[in-house]
Amino acid sequence: MCGIVGAVAQRNITPILVEGLKRLEYRGYDSCGIALHIEGKLERSRSTSRVAELEKQVAEAHLEGFTGIAHTRWATHGAPASHNAHPHFSRGRIALVHNGIIENHDELRDELRAAGYEFESQTDTEVIAHLVDHLYTGDLFETVQLATRRLTGAFAIAVFCRDEPHRVVGARRGSPLIVGLGDGENFLASDALALAGTTDQIIYLEEGDVVDLQMQRIWIVDANGRQVAREVKTVHAHTGAVELGPYRHYMQKEIFEQPRAIADTLEGVESITPDIFGDDAYKVFKKIDSVLILACGTSYYAGLTAKYWLEAVAGVRTDVEIASEYRYRDSVPNPNALVVTISQSGETADTLAALRHAQSQDMQHTLTICNAATSAMVRECALAYITRAGVEVGVASTKAFTTQLAALFLLTLTLAQVKGRLPEEREVAFLKEMRHLPAAITAVLALEPQIIAWAEAFARKENALFLGRGIHYPIALEGALKLKEISYIHAEAYPAGELKHGPLALVTEEMPVVTVAPADSMIEKLKSNMQEVRARGGELYVFADGDSRITSSEGVHVIRMPEHYGLLSPILHVVPLQLLAYHTALARGTDVDKPRNLAKSVTVE
Ligand code: G6P
Repeated sequence: MCGIVGAVAQRNITPILVEGLKRLEYRGYDSCGIALHIEGKLERSRSTSRVAELEKQVAEAHLEGFTGIAHTRWATHGAPASHNAHPHFSRGRIALVHNGIIENHDELRDELRAAGYEFESQTDTEVIAHLVDHLYTGDLFETVQLATRRLTGAFAIAVFCRDEPHRVVGARRGSPLIVGLGDGENFLASDALALAGTTDQIIYLEEGDVVDLQMQRIWIVDANGRQVAREVKTVHAHTGAVELGPYRHYMQKEIFEQPRAIADTLEGVESITPDIFGDDAYKVFKKIDSVLILACGTSYYAGLTAKYWLEAVAGVRTDVEIASEYRYRDSVPNPNALVVTISQSGETADTLAALRHAQSQDMQHTLTICNAATSAMVRECALAYITRAGVEVGVASTKAFTTQLAALFLLTLTLAQVKGRLPEEREVAFLKEMRHLPAAITAVLALEPQIIAWAEAFARKENALFLGRGIHYPIALEGALKLKEISYIHAEAYPAGELKHGPLALVTEEMPVVTVAPADSMIEKLKSNMQEVRARGGELYVFADGDSRITSSEGVHVIRMPEHYGLLSPILHVVPLQLLAYHTALARGTDVDKPRNLAKSVTVE
C-alpha cells in the first residue's frame, strides 16, 4: 500500500528516494511521485506507471536536490491518475505526501475553499497540503503540529516548504513512520526496509509524534507538543531477499521457498517450552482460559486452521475474528483470554486497531505471530513468535501462511503442555513430524507438472468451487482466495457438508470443484459430497492421498499427495492449491505479483 520516503542531506538525494520507492514497490501501488527543493522552488515528477518509469522521468528532467519527499500511492480517495498522485503542492510553497485516510476532509475542503484554495485532485491528501499552507507561521515544524491537531483519521505525512530549504517535517497517527539517522543527513520512511543500504539507525515514531528533520539534528515532540527522546534501534532490514533469482515471479519463488522458510521458522526449537514466545509466556499461558485470534485475509485463514488445533490438542476454547469486524462490534471481553494477532506485515491497520480495541477492553494477555520483527504489532503485543519466512514480495501470501501455521502449531503444543495435555511421547512425535515438514513440502512441490495440466483447464473457467471438511475447510478457503486474487476467477469455498444448502445449485458441467480430500476422519462423508457434485455433472479436481482410495474416472481428476500427514496435513495441502492458482494466473496472463486493486500491506482501514 502507500509508501513514504523523505530525506534532508548535503548530497543529491534523488537516488535514495527512488531506491526507497523501489523497496516499497512490493506493497502494491498504482501511482508514484517525487518532489525536491531545487533552486528556491518546489519541483516534482509523478507517474501512474512503475517506479522505474518515474526514475526515467526524473533523470530526463535532471531533478536533483538535497531536500525532498517521495511516495507510492494506492488509491483510496480519487482514481489512480497522475493529478491524484503524491506529492501534493499548495500554492508553490508546501509539498506533502500522506499515507492513511483523513476522515474530516470534506469539512476541511469547504473551509479551505472558502479561504480561496483551489483543488487539483480528489484526494484527502491535498486538503492537508493546503491546510499546512493556510496555517503556515513561518516555522514548518510548528505549523505541522497545528495542522495535525485539525485532522481526524489515520495518517503518516512528510512535508517540506519552499521557504525552509533544509527541513522535512514528519508526523504520524495511526500509520507507521520511522526516522533514519545518517551522518549529516537524516531520513523519513514508512518502513525501515525503504532505507536499507542507506542507514540502519532507526527510530520508530510513536502515535501522535511530530518530527523535525534537519541535516545535523532531529527533534521530536509528542502529541502534547512536549519534546521527547525516542530510542534508536539498529535494524537490519532484509535487502538481498528481494532478488527474483531463476524464478519468473516472486509468488513462484516464495512457493518454492516454503521448505526453507518452515525450517528457519522452526530453527532452534529443540523442545516445547513457553519461553519461545517471550519471558512471561509461562505465567500468561497458565492464567488464560481461552484464545481470541484476530487477523485479516490469509492470516485470518491461518487463525481458522489453528482453532481446530487449539481446541482438539490443547483443549483451549478458541474464537477467530476478522479484525475489521471485531474492532467495531460490541463483544463480551474476557480478561483471561489470550489475544493472538496473526499478521505477515505487522502493519495491517485493521488488525492493529482490533488489538488496541481488545487492550482497551482490559484484555492484556497479547501475543502476535508475525513475520516482521520490528513492526508495530510486535512492539504492541506482550508476547511474540516471529516467523522467519523472509521478505514476501508477492501480494498473494504463500510462505507467510505456511510459516504462520507452523508457529500456530507450536503455540498449540505449548498451550497443551502448560494445560497438562501433552505427554512427553506425544511432544516428541509431534516435533519429529514438524521437523519432517520441509522434506514433505519438497515432495509436494514435485507435483507441479500435474498441477500445470489442471491449470490449463482452469484458465478457461470463470467460476470455481473449493470444498474441504474439518481442518481442511480453512485450506479450501485459502485455495479459493489464492485463485480469485491472482487469476480473477470467481472462486468460493464451502465446508463440503454445506454444499446441499445452497452452492449445489451452481454446479453444472461448467463448474470445476476442487476438493481437498486427505484420508482423515471426514473422508467417507466427503466422498458422499463428491457424489453429489458428480451427479449434477460437476467436474471434480481432487487432492487425495494414498489412503483416500479415490481414483480417477470420468469427470473425476485426482492428484495424489505423497504422504498422509495427520494433524499437520493443512500445511501440505495448501501448497498444491497455491501452485494451481499460480499456474492458472500464468495461463491467463495476469500480473501475478501485483494483482489489480490489491496491496501487500493494507495500512488503511
Ligand atoms: C493483504 C494481503 C494479504 C494478507 C492480508 C493481511 O490483503 O494482500 O496477503 O493476508 O493483507 O495482511 P497481514 O500482513 O496482516 O498478514
